[in-house]
Amino acid sequence: MLQPSTFNNSLLEWYHSNKRDLPWRRTDDPYKIWLSEVMLQQTQVITVIPYFTKFITKYPTLKDLADADEQALLKDWEGLGYYNRIRNFHNAIKEVKEKYNGEVPDDPQDFFELKGVGPYIGGAVQSIAFNHLLAAVDGNVLRVMSRLNEDGRDMTKASVQKSVKHDIETIIPLEAGDFNQALMELGATICTPRTPKCIMCPVQEHCEAFKSSTVKNYPIKKKQTKKKEEFYNVYFIVNDEQEIFIYKQEGNLLKGMYELPKYDVDTNLENIEEELNVKLDDKRIYIGSDKHVFTHKIWYMESYLLHTNSKNEYFIPVNEVHELPMSMAMKKIFRKFTADEFHEL
Ligand code: ADE
Ligand code: SF4
Repeated sequence: MLQPSTFNNSLLEWYHSNKRDLPWRRTDDPYKIWLSEVMLQQTQVITVIPYFTKFITKYPTLKDLADADEQALLKDWEGLGYYNRIRNFHNAIKEVKEKYNGEVPDDPQDFFELKGVGPYIGGAVQSIAFNHLLAAVDGNVLRVMSRLNEDGRDMTKASVQKSVKHDIETIIPLEAGDFNQALMELGATICTPRTPKCIMCPVQEHCEAFKSSTVKNYPIKKKQTKKKEEFYNVYFIVNDEQEIFIYKQEGNLLKGMYELPKYDVDTNLENIEEELNVKLDDKRIYIGSDKHVFTHKIWYMESYLLHTNSKNEYFIPVNEVHELPMSMAMKKIFRKFTADEFHEL
C-alpha cells in the first residue's frame, strides 16, 4: 500500500512545478472544466486543445451551450469522434440550466444524475471544480497505479477499475482536483506506456514495480484481439440538379451525423434502388478507396458516383453538404469527391 502522506506530497509538489499549461487549467468555471473532461475522456490532449478553445469562444457560458442547436454542436464536434458525448453533454447542460438555474451542481449525487455523467466524468468534474474527494480514473491513472502497486489484474475490467478508484479514494487529499490531475499528468508525461522515465519520477521510491525492476510487465497486456474488418461501398448519388442523396443517422453511436448511402460490398444496386426509392442509371464511376480505423474495427470503403433522375426529400444541393455534421470516415470520402482531379473526369 502507498504511504499516503509522503506519496501525496511528492506527487503534488511535482505537479505544482511541472504541470503543463493547458487552457482548461486556467479557469475555475465548472462548465468549462466539465466540457474539457468530456472532450478529454476519449481524446488526447493535443487534439482536444483547439476544439476546447473553439467551444469556449463560441459558447462562452453554460447558457450559450444550452441554447445552441444540436446540429451546430455536432458540426463543431466534427472530427473529435464519439459523438454521443456532445449530445449527452448538451442534454445535461440543458437540464442544469432548467433545474439548477444554470449552476453546475456542487454535489456529486445531483451531478451523477445528469446525462452522460459516469464515474470518470463525475469524479473529474466534482474533484477539479469543487474538490470533492472522488477519484478520476482514466487510462493513464490505471497504468500508473498498476505499476505503483505491481498490480497484475486486468485493468480493462470494470470491476478492477472500480477497485482502483476505491484505493485512490482512501488516500486522496483535500486538493483532490490537483491530485487527480497529477496522477493523469504523471501518466501522460513520465509514466508513459512504452518507455517510462522512472529516473525523473517524483514517486519512484513508492513504486513497487520500480523497486523490483518489473516496470515493463505492467500493466499486464491482454492478447490483442484483431480488429474486425468491414468492407463497404459508398455511393454518391447525384441528380441533374446537382443534388446528392444524404441522410441523417438514427443509430446510437452516430445519431444526428450525416452519412452517404453505405452498403456491404455484395449488396446489389436493385436492392439499393428499392431501399432508397431512387432509379439509378447503370453507369458507375469509381471515385476512390478509403480506410478508416476505429477502436475495434476497420472500415474499407470504395466509393462510386451514380447518376439518377430521381428526387426526394433526401436530396440536398452538393454545395451545402459541407455544412452538415459528418463522421471522419465520411469526411475523408467526401474530400475525394470534391477534389479537383475528380471533377476533371
Ligand atoms: N486528461 C483527462 N483530464 C485531463 C486534465 N484535466 N488535464 C490533462 N489531461 C487530462
Ligand atoms: Fe511509473 Fe517508473 Fe514512476 Fe513507477 S517509477 S510510477 S513505473 S515512472
